[in-house]
Amino acid sequence: MTVRRAFHVCLAILGFAAFAAAARAETVTVSSPNDEIVVTLTDEGGFARYSATFRGEEAVGASRLGLLFEDHFGFDRGLEISGVECASRDETWEQHWGEDRLIRDHHNEAAVTFTATEGPRRRVIVRVRVFDDGFGFRYETPKQAAFRKDVAIIDELTEFAFDAASTAWWIPSREWNRYEYLYRETPATEVYLAHTPMTLKTPAGAYLSVHEAALVDYSGMSLKQAREGRFKADLAPWSDGALVKTKVPFKTPWRTVQISPDPAGLMNSRMILNLNEPNALGDVSWVEPGKYVGIWWAMHIRDRSWGTDMIHGATTEETKRYMDFAAEHGFDGVLVEGWNIGWDGDWYNNGDLFRFAEPYPDFDIAEIARHGEQIGVRLIGHHETSGDVTNYEAQLDDAFDLYEKSGVRQVKTGYVADGGLIERLDERGIKKYEWHDGQFTNDHHLRVIRKAAEHKMSINPHEPVKDTGLRRTYPNWISREGARGQEYNAWALPPNPPEHTAIIPFTRMLSGPMDFTPGVFDLRPNEREPLRPDMPRSDTRSRVETTLAKQLSLYVVLYSPIQMAADLPENYEARPDAFQFIKDVPTDWEKSVALDGEIGDYVVVARKERGGNDWYLGALTDEEAREITVPVDFLEPGAAYTAEIYRDGEGAHYNTAPYEIVIEETSVTAADEIVLPLGPGGGAAIRFVVAE
Ligand code: NOJ
Ligand code: CA
Repeated sequence: MTVRRAFHVCLAILGFAAFAAAARAETVTVSSPNDEIVVTLTDEGGFARYSATFRGEEAVGASRLGLLFEDHFGFDRGLEISGVECASRDETWEQHWGEDRLIRDHHNEAAVTFTATEGPRRRVIVRVRVFDDGFGFRYETPKQAAFRKDVAIIDELTEFAFDAASTAWWIPSREWNRYEYLYRETPATEVYLAHTPMTLKTPAGAYLSVHEAALVDYSGMSLKQAREGRFKADLAPWSDGALVKTKVPFKTPWRTVQISPDPAGLMNSRMILNLNEPNALGDVSWVEPGKYVGIWWAMHIRDRSWGTDMIHGATTEETKRYMDFAAEHGFDGVLVEGWNIGWDGDWYNNGDLFRFAEPYPDFDIAEIARHGEQIGVRLIGHHETSGDVTNYEAQLDDAFDLYEKSGVRQVKTGYVADGGLIERLDERGIKKYEWHDGQFTNDHHLRVIRKAAEHKMSINPHEPVKDTGLRRTYPNWISREGARGQEYNAWALPPNPPEHTAIIPFTRMLSGPMDFTPGVFDLRPNEREPLRPDMPRSDTRSRVETTLAKQLSLYVVLYSPIQMAADLPENYEARPDAFQFIKDVPTDWEKSVALDGEIGDYVVVARKERGGNDWYLGALTDEEAREITVPVDFLEPGAAYTAEIYRDGEGAHYNTAPYEIVIEETSVTAADEIVLPLGPGGGAAIRFVVAE
């Protein structure tokens, strides 16, 4: 690992500009290491503001900064810059798991102190870091006489002023379905309240993505359009109306803007991770990336049920069948849902009934653990809370004890509850309802992550809070949902349209790994006869709108250190040829490169396996057919590779001919180009093996 530090290289310039009415404004300018991004802070007119340029063009116009508190004077006006400290860093750090093993953190920094000139003397530091791929800033409120220890933030004034003629890719925030919306591509002016990451294309052709890093002890930030093109931080409120309850001193999460001349550049940015704190857990060798199968899709397509009243999925026998299948085909684990007391009845609304240490009688967890140990497959745990966090937290110790005893190393959690309906009992036992990205829930997630770490367990929350790069600090936060995943193809109308997976690499996936659960081979599950007449299938229009080859491409395109092979064992046994790619593809990478793409149209990604020499490539398209030419110059120069190609066949079409697939081998070197014909809704997956 190389570590170079260059503190004291101050690239910030403290300047004094003449200002109307004889007032003096100060400006601080920080450039990226390559000088392409320049961030400027000013106190002009007594307001704290920042702006940013990319390659000389405005990227973010003058935008307000500030915080307001309950019962305290805030930082909104009458502010002046009273000090600047500069720093630079260029160091490379290593990830225990990830899309890249080594990550370079190269940035220039300014910590700018704003002091209030009116009211009690008080100060806030705005720390800015400027990288070649974007910038981030946060507020730091040091200990000072003007603040009592406990403070409530009642507004964050941060703005992001973009060119109103930009195009935005976004999902609505503070709505019932959390993050599980189809992305909208609209003029930026049509955004009202958006989750982050929100991605924009400016009229000048730059690509920007707004997000946050290290969301700890704070409420999640959404973006509210305040004026045309001008977005304001909108923090998820507590049930009592406060936005954040904190203690001085405190630091906010980083507010981030990633900037790139092309969409693929956004995918190659590691800035969010760089703005997070290093691993806080010490030895994390017990955190294991890998692949899994599960008693899961069978419930979503109504072959099985979570509850015991119909066709219970989580039986000892069925779990052993999946474990045997996993062992035979090289999977590490078997996820089992519906194994514990609480699923019978209206589980969506009865979170308080879940018992996390009490299996149903037909799920012999000790016998399952014994069987798994014998054949080298782990049970993967599942804790659906239905959003009743108090009920879950009261049982955490017992729940993790039982799983630890049973050889479990990974637990999928679930927070199925409408947005704003995370339940908790307050100190007086009164029920309160919180947001999935509110401070209460964010704190809860970290309590679970820390407790899980004590048991050497990794957590994969569904209906989670968005990722903000905390996997760097807590490597056992192994994946999460937080977008429309494969499950929507089993029962939703509309299911995920072909462009969905051509949008999320440039939006949702910029925040971190997703447990999308790819690999469905029976693309029309609802066209089959129901197994039981009292369990009719969903509408046949709910189906997987991809070709078979595109399902394979998702393993490379959508990064997660744990990947599911979501379909039923029998559907894989019916297609051993295509299944081979799922068996081969790793989930932990030495290096990843997004090669090409247009948001909502197509994307091409290459990744090199960790601990080996193979490369993998995934390419996918929206509903349009296209031919993609990929120079494979990422391969080792001079080496000969066999490319095992899984691509759409002649006439492949997600609607009319989804199973048309060609599986072929060819020899390539880094000097070659590969031409991939992608059908509508299609894709391609390639494994490059170094030739002997
Ligand atoms: C929603 C999750 O996304 C899904 O994976 C899970 O099967 C159900 N909740 C039940 O917990
Ligand atoms: Ca979900």
